[in-house]
Amino acid sequence: MLVRQKIAAVVRKGRSHADPLIVGICFFIFIVFMFGSAPIYSAEEKTAADEQTKQIKIPSSKIGLVDEDVSASDSGYLNKERASVARQAMGPCRPVHGKVTILVAVVTTSYERFYNVAQDSLRCYLKSTNYTFLLINLDTDKRVNEQCGHNQLFFKKHCAASVYLNDTDWLMVLDADAGVVNPNHCIEEWIDTRVDLIFYERFFNWEIASGNYIARNTPFAKHFLKTWADWQYEQPKNFNGADNGVLQIHILKAVLPSAVSEREACDRIWRRGDGYDTYMAYVTCVKVTLGATRLWPGKVRIYRRGHGWVRDGMLTADRWCQRDFMLHGWKHNRTGIAGWMSPFEKEFNIDECGIGEAGWHWRKDYRTSEENIKESLKNFERGAGINFPKVARVHPYLSEGDIGSCWPHCDDLV
Ligand SMILES: *[C@@H]1O[C@H](CO)[C@@H](O)[C@H](O)[C@H]1NC(C)=O
Ligand SMILES: *[C@@H]1O[C@H](CO)[C@@H](O)[C@H](O)[C@H]1NC(C)=O
Ligand SMILES: *[C@@H]1O[C@H](CO)[C@@H](O)[C@H](O)[C@H]1NC(C)=O
Repeated sequence: MLVRQKIAAVVRKGRSHADPLIVGICFFIFIVFMFGSAPIYSAEEKTAADEQTKQIKIPSSKIGLVDEDVSASDSGYLNKERASVARQAMGPCRPVHGKVTILVAVVTTSYERFYNVAQDSLRCYLKSTNYTFLLINLDTDKRVNEQCGHNQLFFKKHCAASVYLNDTDWLMVLDADAGVVNPNHCIEEWIDTRVDLIFYERFFNWEIASGNYIARNTPFAKHFLKTWADWQYEQPKNFNGADNGVLQIHILKAVLPSAVSEREACDRIWRRGDGYDTYMAYVTCVKVTLGATRLWPGKVRIYRRGHGWVRDGMLTADRWCQRDFMLHGWKHNRTGIAGWMSPFEKEFNIDECGIGEAGWHWRKDYRTSEENIKESLKNFERGAGINFPKVARVHPYLSEGDIGSCWPHCDDLV
């Protein structure tokens, strides 16, 4: 899983120093590392990228959640339904969409070593809500092992999700390194009842992320998850992005079943990939084919980058604002390990949690304003665009054609 390793390495790098300037420099290294070993910049691009590394510095603002609720008057971002379920001052999360379950799938070895901070923050959050929590050990869980013969854990996880989805109305699947930074949110804020599956785009490369998603207990969602897992057996042998690579074409097929020649073009590009950069050409192909549509009723919604319930903490050096709910990429057991400070100044004591903000020992200077977070995301976005691999900037209908292999029947399914 080279992509994952790269990301993990990068995240470690990005968070190994709390000083924002150093984080900025690490970010630049990250971009170079992420998007090709020898990127060639024009003078203009270089300046823009440098500028952006300087601007990742985020000033802090006051701490405390209670006074700054997400309110119904907050128009233009939250739609009416969303505002109506927004959490107010750590108050109740009304179960307006039925039973909501959080599932974290782990394997014994890594869970105990790396994810304490993320998992403790999740537990602290859960104590203040009525959501059901499932920590599923993929190695030993009886139900999963009866129904999921997969031996690649990333695929087995989606099969496990399809199994436990049956016990709830909505299932939020989380990576073990996703933690709650701001508990003053309800999961219902991101549930969209127009669809059965909810994904989001990874901030730094526009890929539809596979680690965290929300599924509704419907035959469509169960089938989607099960068949996603079964791609373990038919995935191409080259550098393919594993379950995350599979997800792109799996969604494309589910939401645009008639786009056969486009799907075949992306599939060809996918199978030609031999590393991260060429793999990204496939991601672009799927993205171009899906176009600007983000919601397919009864099927899938894909949140824009930075609009989901979770984003990579590294984007803002773990600084956060009121809109943030969860941050992703907390790979250390304790705060302070390998220089990673985490947004918390000490370990969680779960016994303290449950009422209001009790148990949440934030670092005061890690909480910041929306404007600051927006500025960081804007800068990161610009850098990610500038440094996007050249070979991944494909126009699939130009390079692959879209009627040559199927004429005169290309439109038969439309
Ligand atoms: C949990 O459920 C109980 C009983 O229905 C309710 O009184 C309480 O407000 C709920 N808590 C939250 C945080 O939603
Ligand atoms: C991480 O924390 C858990 C729980 O406290 C502990 O069992 C485990 O040994 C720790 N791992 C490391 C590598 O420190
Ligand atoms: C799924 O849930 C329904 C009702 O909750 C139950 O009747 C059915 O047996 C379950 N199916 C599986 C495969 O567990």
